[in-house]
Amino acid sequence: KKSLFSGMQATGNLTLGNYLGALNNWLTLNEEYECFYCVVDLHSITVRQDPAELRKRARALLTLYIAAGLDPVKNCIYYQSHVSGHAELSWILNCFTYMGELNRMTQFKDKAAKHSDNINAGLFTYPVLMAADILLFQSDVVPVGVDQKQHLEITRDIAERFNSIYGDVFTIPEPYIGKVGAKIMSLQEPSKKMSKSDENVNASIYLMDDPDTVIRKFKRAVTDSDNQIIYSDDKPGIKNLIDIYSLTNNKTVEEVVKEFDGKGYGDFKMAVGEAVASVLKPIQTRVAELNKDKAYVDSIIKTNAEKANYYATKTLRKVQKKVGFPEKI
Ligand code: TYM
Repeated sequence: KKSLFSGMQATGNLTLGNYLGALNNWLTLNEEYECFYCVVDLHSITVRQDPAELRKRARALLTLYIAAGLDPVKNCIYYQSHVSGHAELSWILNCFTYMGELNRMTQFKDKAAKHSDNINAGLFTYPVLMAADILLFQSDVVPVGVDQKQHLEITRDIAERFNSIYGDVFTIPEPYIGKVGAKIMSLQEPSKKMSKSDENVNASIYLMDDPDTVIRKFKRAVTDSDNQIIYSDDKPGIKNLIDIYSLTNNKTVEEVVKEFDGKGYGDFKMAVGEAVASVLKPIQTRVAELNKDKAYVDSIIKTNAEKANYYATKTLRKVQKKVGFPEKI
């Protein structure tokens, strides 16, 4: 079976962008791939975190993976910090990555501008840890939203560089980016992506938002003034709402445009709000159930960490040997 890896940060509350751009695409992949879905808590500390809060959010994210429909027996769902191979491989790959390459990462530039009081080395080498995540599991594919594309490219470059020196050690991963929904935009500024860290709470739909909140946010969504439901780059607000409706109703963009032909924005926004609320409802119910069953979630955390460790150690041993570390006695 081929392998697949993806991860999410446990910082902030997950948004509809994370769900439609990533999580929702993950649900059926375990038939074809050996799937690893990680809560990337090592990445999270590249910006300052409150420890108790981070622990809580990491658990909430792992629970949400399960609640959204990832079967924790068929998919390996685990915390990055429970598998030390991530950090170990990351160090080795740091020595095969150039400062110049990392300097070109747009996400680093954005984050450095935003957190100018804490531009730490971890923030700079963030993409190397991401490469380690992916390569540790010899991943063939990595399902992500479009914002992670540059990180996937550097991962491939690092892997190819390593392989050209030491032979075929790493599988070269391919990005897997959905056609629609790869970039869900902010409801308030549709030229920006919907983001967990947006300060304006009306800009993002959080997966734990209740139905009234969801509908209210969609009603307030920024669109344009011509009141025609057309899919066009000139109408980013409406385009985004069409994408969201299309994904939550399993309809093509053409079908959605046809369905709302001649209708006004008010009706359309209401329909999108209701569709999203009804997708979120069962997930929220399942989260509440899982929160009551601590022993069950704990057992998943334990079993899956062991499984991830098994695969990670296999790759790590191979890499350590290649670079010339002495074998353990
Ligand atoms: P993160 O936590 O920012 O986002 C998790 C996933 O959600 C996608 N995403 C979106 N998709 C569509 N529209 C949006 N508005 C939107 N916002 C976020 C992201 O593309 C991503 O797929 N560095 C990564 C986490 C990571 C990772 C990895 C991913 C660490 N190691 C290895 C893949 C493989 C991150 O911060 O994602």
